[in-house]
Amino acid sequence: MTKHALSTRLWHWVNAAAIIVLFMTGLNISNAHKYLYWGNYGFDPKDAWLAVVKFPGWATIPGHYNLAVARDWHIIAAWPFGVGLLFIWIAMLVNGHFRRDLTTKPSDWTPGAVIASVKAHAPAGGGAHHGGYNAVQKILYGGVFGVLLPMMVLTGLSISPGFEPAAPWVLDLLGGRQSARSLHFLTAWAVFGFFVIHIVLALTDWRLILEMFTGGRRPDPASTHDPAPAPAPVTPPAAEGAMDHG
Ligand code: HEM
Ligand code: HEM
Repeated sequence: MTKHALSTRLWHWVNAAAIIVLFMTGLNISNAHKYLYWGNYGFDPKDAWLAVVKFPGWATIPGHYNLAVARDWHIIAAWPFGVGLLFIWIAMLVNGHFRRDLTTKPSDWTPGAVIASVKAHAPAGGGAHHGGYNAVQKILYGGVFGVLLPMMVLTGLSISPGFEPAAPWVLDLLGGRQSARSLHFLTAWAVFGFFVIHIVLALTDWRLILEMFTGGRRPDPASTHDPAPAPAPVTPPAAEGAMDHG
């Protein structure tokens, strides 16, 4: 059985490309007005809870300040991102990937399970594994699919001029327009934080990245969690001979 279903691989790389464009165009949009507020209104920098830095050209798309172009590309990339998330949720529920590989048990959340996952992932613990996900991976990936990415869509849609009049209750739910914008910004940085840790861990073993393209092979479930090799069956030579002639 392949380790990563075709639907997971397709979603993964389309989503990664879309997020890079969304983040870098988002930083350009942020340069337009670098102050963030809570509530419904915000204009005066003295009411801001945060004055964001101005992002340099190398971190933004396009590489110079241009709000109109940045917004166009932000919305263009939002489509594959949002539709992709819907697609992967349906695919994961239908093919059982979510239930089988990503759901956690209460015991996965204990400090002991978390420490064991980190130790096992460290080079001294054998490095990145090629079996199922460990407790930390399940928690992080589940959180990305279930909380971070849906939050990006919800906060992004709520501040989109086309969507806002159609469902103003979403803005109310998020505490007002400026709160929604602040939450969109904060969630974008949470995604960035995940992205950095994720890349560092993925780069510990280039085969993991290759498998995200090829699909890889899932190890035999019987051998996955068994550290000791199974003893070879001992067949008396006489019995083998009997088989040969039988
Ligand atoms: C369905 C997905 C998304 C939609 C509909 C969306 C929509 C928007 C809109 C309309 C704005 C402009 C806000 C304004 O003018 O005040 C914005 C800003 C921004 N977006 Fe998104 N977005 C989405 C996903 C993302 C993702 C995935 C990221 C990054 C991981 C991101 C990062 C940002 C950033 C950093 C800003 C600037 C925030 C600010 O200072 O106003 N967005 N987004
Ligand atoms: C270019 C950058 C990226 C690289 C090199 C990369 C690499 C990988 C690799 C190697 C795996 C499989 C891990 C394993 O088998 O142990 C994986 C899984 C995953 N990645 Fe990424 N990734 C990237 C970007 C992203 C981004 C931007 C996101 C979302 C914010 C993301 C979310 C995920 C998720 C949720 C999984 C679990 C997939 C599943 O099994 O359902 N990745 N990634």
